[in-house]
Amino acid sequence: MRIEPFGVEEWMNTYEMKAEYNIAETCVESLTVEELLNLSGDPESAYREICNIKLTYGEIPGSVELRRAIASLYESMTEDNILITQGGIGANFLAQFSLIDPGDSVISVYPTYQQLYSVPKAFGVSVNLWPLRPEKHFLPDIKELKAISESTKHLKMICLNNPNNPTGALMDEDFLKKIIDIAKSHGAYVLCDEVYRGLEHDASFKTPSIADLYERGISTGSMSKVFSLAGLRLGWIAGPPEVVRECFSHRNYMTISCGCIDEHLALVAMKCRNRLLGRNLQIVRENFATLSSWIDEEKHVRWVPPSAGTTAFLDFSRYNMPSRDFCKRLLDETGAFLVPGSAFGPEFEGWVRMGFACTSEVLKKGLNCVSKFLRKLEGEIQKR
Ligand SMILES: Cc1ncc(COP(=O)(O)O)c(C=O)c1O
Repeated sequence: MRIEPFGVEEWMNTYEMKAEYNIAETCVESLTVEELLNLSGDPESAYREICNIKLTYGEIPGSVELRRAIASLYESMTEDNILITQGGIGANFLAQFSLIDPGDSVISVYPTYQQLYSVPKAFGVSVNLWPLRPEKHFLPDIKELKAISESTKHLKMICLNNPNNPTGALMDEDFLKKIIDIAKSHGAYVLCDEVYRGLEHDASFKTPSIADLYERGISTGSMSKVFSLAGLRLGWIAGPPEVVRECFSHRNYMTISCGCIDEHLALVAMKCRNRLLGRNLQIVRENFATLSSWIDEEKHVRWVPPSAGTTAFLDFSRYNMPSRDFCKRLLDETGAFLVPGSAFGPEFEGWVRMGFACTSEVLKKGLNCVSKFLRKLEGEIQKR
């Protein structure tokens, strides 16, 4: 089966290890095992519990206790609505692999995590992209969705990513309900990648989950971003029990279980999630303020400020340079690392994605490097 190269992953795989100031990373600054155990409040018993784990496959769909804890992140889910997967990436793949049949069609927001549209394309089904535009604050147009959905046959799934990577745009409940009305009229699923849900910049707002709003809504989540535990490789599908059963049946062919140590540490994180989320929201909100002030100073850089998540999409088009060349030179000449917009698709040339939930020190040093590099480019432009 042929599949398009995954633009952002290929970029990260090639260059990330060379970065001195990684301001491209999308996880909130990751925790060590020790930091996690300290957050639990009783690190010594937590450590002993890990030592006593017997290394069997564990409970195959994920332990009931962990699934129950994850279900509590939603309004209306129980453990029967949750299936543990290998990361959010495993959750998205499994949902699409389990539900999409030959002859179906899929609609996906764009730009987003490329998996959401390239995997169904690889399955050979028709995929229509539903664009997010800066002039509309990177929110898609409902009228456009209606028109696309009416022009496609056998619409099986609408793929969303809320909050969105790379733009940080956030759809609220009213907006999601309009999408649901259209999906319902086609009997289609809405698969919403919600791996950044819970990192809202405005403390008074909470991102609703599609799984709580729609009987065919499937939410995918993960320990990687919001909980700073990407190394666990642990995610989940939250959705209707019949969808979860279908996904579980398909999962038998690719995963036996997701690892009892990973599941145990995920449960430790869930039990102290208020402290962990408190730490992470502080990082995200303080760093967002640092980035906003930097943008205010940099007159030639534009953006649509993100509302949630760990990423911002920045417009460097005034420097008139291909985004790959921009990011490669920035890395080689300063050690700061960003992702070129073109890795999200040719339409996003001139943009770059920044991940700002690293330590405040790395962010400040990284932004300093970008400023120095911009002064250098301005000097070069003047000499031409
Ligand atoms: C929107 C989105 N979904 C899913 C993933 C996969 O993350 P993980 O498999 O670590 O949960 C990422 C990672 O960057 C992402 O940005």
